[in-house]
Order: sequence, then C-alpha cells, then structure tokens
Amino acid sequence: MGAVEELEELAIKYAQEAVNLDKQGKRDLAIIAYKRAIENLLKIVHFQPNYTLNRIYIQRANIYKTRIKALQNFWFNDSTLTFENPEEEEREIGGLILEKPLGVRWEDVVGLEDAKRAIKEAILYPSKRPDLFPLGWPRGILLFGPPGCGKTLLAAAVTSEVDATFISIDAATIMSKWLGEAERNVAKVFNLARRYAKKRPSIIFIDELDSLMGVHNYEVGGEVRVRNQFLKEMDSIIDKKNPTPLYVIGATNKPWRLDLPFVRRFQKRIYVPPPNYSERLEMFRLFTKNLSLDSDVDLKELARLTEGFSGSDILDVCQSVQLRVNSELFKSNKFEGDIKPRGITMDDFREVLKDRKPSISPQTLSLYKRWCNEFKAL
Ligand SMILES: Nc1ncnc2c1ncn2[C@@H]1O[C@H](COP(=O)(O)OP(=O)(O)OP(=O)(O)O)[C@@H](O)[C@H]1O
Ligand SMILES: [Mg+2]
Repeated sequence: MGAVEELEELAIKYAQEAVNLDKQGKRDLAIIAYKRAIENLLKIVHFQPNYTLNRIYIQRANIYKTRIKALQNFWFNDSTLTFENPEEEEREIGGLILEKPLGVRWEDVVGLEDAKRAIKEAILYPSKRPDLFPLGWPRGILLFGPPGCGKTLLAAAVTSEVDATFISIDAATIMSKWLGEAERNVAKVFNLARRYAKKRPSIIFIDELDSLMGVHNYEVGGEVRVRNQFLKEMDSIIDKKNPTPLYVIGATNKPWRLDLPFVRRFQKRIYVPPPNYSERLEMFRLFTKNLSLDSDVDLKELARLTEGFSGSDILDVCQSVQLRVNSELFKSNKFEGDIKPRGITMDDFREVLKDRKPSISPQTLSLYKRWCNEFKAL
C-alpha cells in the first residue's frame, strides 16, 4: 500500500471513530478522533499537493474543525452531523458540487438535435406551464454515447439556457474513498436540490453516472446502498403527485453498466452519437473560426477524412495544427511584437491526421447501437 493510501485509511478510521463517539455524546474522545482525522487528511494534502481529491480532503478537515469548535463550545446539542441550516449543509456538500461550467450556449453544441429537443420538452415547457401536464412529466434524462461526443457539453448548455439552479456532481467524487458516506452524499445532494426547487426548477447533473453502480470496493455492500439510495431519491421525484420541479440529468459512456431498475428511472434516454459528415463539417468550421487558414484548406475534405472521429477528436486535430504553426514561429525566435504565424495549410491537417485514428471503433459503436435499440426512449 502506498503512503497516501495508508494515510487515507487512517483518516477514514479516525473520522468514523469520531462520528460514532460524537453520536454517543462522548465529546472529548470525539474531539481527539476528529483531530487525528484532520491531521491525516492534511498530511495527504501536504505530501501530494496536486492530488485530485485534495479539495475534498481540505473541505472535510474544515468540517471536522467546525465540529470540534461546536463540541468545545457546547452550543449545539444535536449529536449528529446533520445541519438544519441550508447554508451550512451547502458548505458541507460543497466539495461534491462542481464549479458552474462557463457559459456554453445551444449554438456551441453542434448537431444533437434530438437531445436538445428532448431537454426542451422535458424541462423548459413543463416548468413554464405545469398546469398543462396533469399526468406529470419526465424528471430523469439519461444521456449516453461514446466518449467525447458532447454529453457534458450539452449539460453545460442546459445550465445557461434553462433558468434553473444547476447542481453538477460527478459520480466518481460521490463514491470517493469516504466509506459509508456515499449514500449520505447522494441524500444530501437531493435534499439541497429539493430545497432550491421550492423557488425555481433545479437540475442535478450527474456525470459519469455508471460509477454509482460501484466499481469501488472500499466497503462491502457500499455500492449497493448508494444505488438503492439513488433509486429511492429518483422515485420520490418521479412521483406524479409531486409537483416539485426537480430534474436529474445523468451522463454515461458505459450505459450497459447500469442495471434495469436504474435505467427505468430515466424516462428519457437519449443517444448522443458521434458526429456525421455534416456535423463534422460544422465542427471544423466552428473550431477553425479563429484560426488563419490558407485558401487551400478544404473543410469538406477534412470532414470526409474524419469518419469515426468524435467531436473531441476533431477539436484535438484543430488544436494540433494551430500548435504546429505556432511552434514554428517560436522556434524561429521571431515572435516579438505582433508577428503572426504563417497560415495553416491543408498539408498541416494531413500531417496531423496521419498519426491519428478515430477514437471510436466500429465495434464500440455497435455496442452503443445495440444498447440504444433496446433502451432508447426519446
Ligand atoms: N456535438 C459537439 N458540438 C461541439 N463540440 C463538441 C461536440 N462534441 C464534442 N465536442 C467538443 O469535445 C469536447 C468534449 O466533449 P464532452 O466532454 O461533452 O464529451 P462527453 O460526451 O461528455 O465525453 P465523455 O463520455 O468522455 O465524458 C467538448 O468540450 C467540445 O469542445
Ligand atoms: Mg463527459
């Protein structure tokens, strides 16, 4: 076991101990255990300053510090870590919520018309005129499809196009090492969203949804509990008698890892496919908008050459040609002032494309198609 894993284990052990002692009202012992948990968490941060989970560790440490203060001051009597105060709860789950994505608009998302329409129908219309939907309306939308084709991008566009509170989480974070807390995290996220939904629609976006099915075996039975908690939460929002405008958008590139009860709770299941010829052409236009291209660059030809490429592959190609001409300029040492690199030629594109393969193989594609035929629900 590596040093970080060891520290993590220790931190988890002390944190659990602390919470148990706290629940039993053994304040002094709880404080000691919280302090040990904090120590170990901060050690991880210190040893590995760039570790992806540091944000969560620092935040956990702060929560425990606050709790220690509370225990020392005696002024709040409830012995668990549940908060009545929404702000405090928000702070507690803050580490789970991702930064709001930057303003992506519908126009920035090339193609995917089905998906855009389904989202408008499911979220925009009912939230404007709920009276027209006496039979209820779908609350769960599942976006599935190969990597790099716009699922996350589409969700980001929803944020700016729909007037709603957007809570974005990724499932891998929810499932992070914190034993036994994953299902509480799920519950907290939904509680917070329900509270927001009293004022205006709220949308929970769960990226990499398949992680909720649990690959992590940090705890026997842990993933089952998370899954069940999630199903329970979904049921409460799907309930037709429940008018709360709360939606869940899930995204996954491994839909086959979701089991049937899970899939069924997403009444709308939308395939986000790789771009076809005309969509690829549009992407090349969009991504090269701010590049200076020579007149010999034939975007149509490029769209033809990139069959099987995802949107993110195409973006990558465009970035690489830009890199080529820029590095030439920097290598020539004549980049002072506002000297511009030479124009990008078709040969630049050809060179870049030479050592690239489409990231989506026909085999993978057929997996998606099969799943899509079985489960698609627009
Ligand atoms: N349909 C599209 N229109 C415009 N840009 C796209 C599109 N698809 C992909 N891209 C570009 O590729 C990037 C990656 O796409 P995105 O993160 O949305 O893929 P994803 O489907 O969520 O992939 P994954 O399954 O790996 O999470 C986007 O930020 C965008 O720049
Ligand atoms: Mg994504």
